[in-house]
Amino acid sequence: MLGKPVLGIETSCDETAAAVLAADGAVLAEAVLSQQEHAAFGGVVPEIAARAHLAHLPGLVARVMQQAGLGFADLGGIAATSGPGLIGGLIVGAGFAKGAAMAHGLPFVAVNHLEAHALTARLPGVVPGGLAFPYLLLLVSGGHCQCVSVEGVGRHVRLGGTIDDAVGEAFDKVAKLMGLGWPGGPALERLAAQGDAARFALPRPLFGRPGCDFSFSGLKTAVAQLVAAYPAGALPGQDAADLAASFQRAVAVTLADRAGRAMEMFAARHGARTLVVAGGVAANQAIRAALTAAATTRDFSFAAPPLRLCGDNAVMVAWTGIERLRLGLTDPLDHAPRPRWPMDELAA
Ligand code: KG4
Ligand code: ZN
Repeated sequence: MLGKPVLGIETSCDETAAAVLAADGAVLAEAVLSQQEHAAFGGVVPEIAARAHLAHLPGLVARVMQQAGLGFADLGGIAATSGPGLIGGLIVGAGFAKGAAMAHGLPFVAVNHLEAHALTARLPGVVPGGLAFPYLLLLVSGGHCQCVSVEGVGRHVRLGGTIDDAVGEAFDKVAKLMGLGWPGGPALERLAAQGDAARFALPRPLFGRPGCDFSFSGLKTAVAQLVAAYPAGALPGQDAADLAASFQRAVAVTLADRAGRAMEMFAARHGARTLVVAGGVAANQAIRAALTAAATTRDFSFAAPPLRLCGDNAVMVAWTGIERLRLGLTDPLDHAPRPRWPMDELAA
């Protein structure tokens, strides 16, 4: 089965995605459908997400297979996100993959979503010449915020993480407080571009503390109190832009400080010096700039996947499938999806 293309499927949250990659990692076809059904609720509704995955996934898989010009008999395996995430969506995606694997006699790979984000930087072309293990990963998304020493396939050591909200969750909650709609991260970044980041003094939680844990709930509360001080909680245009910019600055400065600690911890464990950022929040330019500067100061090189591969996608799932298949790592068809599945439990 080695040397053949792999189909990847992602359904752990609100993106329905499918992709086909050649065995060397070249992307033959990819599709991501960001479910719009949740906007009216201001957050992902798990039951709606599961039903939408069920409605859209078969058509999406047919589309990428057709674009790649392949039939199932041409594949070397099928990889699907099997955790962590919303259980309904995981059951849809992994169930579909296992059904197709059984029908066509193909190996199945149960992919850990966090490992998929972690291995994206090893896709050919992301880092010239390819990225070797080990490297330091800062994973910043709507559901996760953690620093991980990525030491091999299935070999990940968590150095620190958030003690309350994930950073994307903080962006989404603050955007909601400010009436910017959902998901909030991109809208907040656009508004911040018009604002003065020095206007509001906001807390920088855990700044300068030992270790590389994160905390965002105090920052969110500080924004909530500022917003509540305006009549009906409605900020005039320039104040809103200044608050968005000040919030984004506080997050960027905090992430750079925490990542700086993580780089020191990582450098003490390994000779290697590469920082990789991944996850939806890695699309934020102010955050990328702050992390680039923090890496440069510590003599680390900095790598970030292209924007379309920062958020949830199936290219990263197919690629993780390829990395695992190369090592002979497959999963049985009775593998049960796991809503909680820490990365450091992946070691065989
Ligand atoms: O990785 P992802 O697509 O899904 C999860 O696994 O969570 O990340 C989505 C998160 C959302 O919280 C979204 O608001 C945030 O990433 N996000 C951003 C930006 N683009 C997406 N946050 C800040 N700035 C952005 N440009
Ligand atoms: Zn994700």
